[in-house]
Amino acid sequence: MAERIAVGVVGCGFFARNHLSSWRDLAGEGAALAAVCDIDPAKASAAAEVFGVPRWYSDPERMLAEERLGLVDIATRMDTHRELVGRAIKHRVPAIVQKPFGPDLAACAAMAEAARGAGVFLAIHENFRFQAPMRRLIEVVKSGAIGEANWARISFRTGYDIYKGQPYLLTEQRFVILDLGCHVLDLARALLGEVEHLSAETQRRNPRVRGEDTATMLLRHRSGAVSMVECTYESRRLPDTFPETLIEIEGSKGAVMLRPGPVMEVTASGTLTTSEADAPLLPWAERPWHIVQESVFATCSHMLAALRAGRSADTSADDNLKTFALCEAAYEAMATGRAVAPRVPG
Ligand SMILES: NC(=O)c1ccc[n+]([C@@H]2O[C@H](COP(=O)([O-])OP(=O)(O)OC[C@H]3O[C@@H](n4cnc5c(N)ncnc54)[C@H](O)[C@@H]3O)[C@@H](O)[C@H]2O)c1
Repeated sequence: MAERIAVGVVGCGFFARNHLSSWRDLAGEGAALAAVCDIDPAKASAAAEVFGVPRWYSDPERMLAEERLGLVDIATRMDTHRELVGRAIKHRVPAIVQKPFGPDLAACAAMAEAARGAGVFLAIHENFRFQAPMRRLIEVVKSGAIGEANWARISFRTGYDIYKGQPYLLTEQRFVILDLGCHVLDLARALLGEVEHLSAETQRRNPRVRGEDTATMLLRHRSGAVSMVECTYESRRLPDTFPETLIEIEGSKGAVMLRPGPVMEVTASGTLTTSEADAPLLPWAERPWHIVQESVFATCSHMLAALRAGRSADTSADDNLKTFALCEAAYEAMATGRAVAPRVPG
């Protein structure tokens, strides 16, 4: 049995139940849910009861001071991340923080630098590249089966009512690029490598929302590959494939597609192979969220293994600065009407 790592979860809101379920399921890998915290005591105590967590707190500073945590998982919204990450670093507790890393690049850079300076593990819960279909897709591209990947379309388009569970999204000034764009831009990096420049057009198609709810971006990667990366929460197309990301990648020797289902089509050596690419349905998961829920488990498992091995997570703070720099570049590109090179701090 792996050495026990005491885990504390901060934030017991809408999405945290997926983190709590995952940590509970990771007991076999040594994770031990020791404490939960929410500034709303009712949410903290309810989470402790549902997930059988020994202690709950309404003050994150107290939890960090009183518990002997080996890991703190911050599942709150971005405006709280800087303060909470700062507290974790002060107590020298390895930390994971939900996406978006922070509200702007300066805040993200400050958190990454503080963690680097203190030598404290800091990873971002950027879960899309850990989704079961994406893990397979990345494997196919890396295997060389389609040759040099040189064109892609990465597309997340839905009209699913995300505002029901996350009403705060209605009032975000910088909305879809930070909330969803960070996921699809991270996939573009994971699949095709770093980006030289990008251009972007945004739209606010739903009059109820404050920020942009649709983004269409065009990326030139350093490898020479070109990708179209798109996301919207305001599509009326049927069937609605929420929460699937649909992907087409063409390479010098073949192609790979993720079609609705999700179904994977690989064309290699002139032959098309089709296979089912859905995520397993974990016992606590429910459709249509199960692909996301399984990826939360896979992300937590990856983070735990990286921490234990003394290495950075694939989506470390420093790695995620590159994704966040793409989000900032997209806002600048939209505002100026020009292609913008991402500026990665540090
Ligand atoms: N990766 C994904 O697939 C995915 C999906 C949905 C949401 N998210 C992210 O998860 C994060 C949380 O989203 P949510 O919808 O659960 O939000 P939420 O508002 O429902 O929950 C946040 C909780 O944090 C608590 N909180 C706020 N400040 C705190 C503090 N200083 N200390 C302790 N608790 C505090 C709030 O009381 C609330 O209960 C967001 O960053 C969101 O983008 C990620």
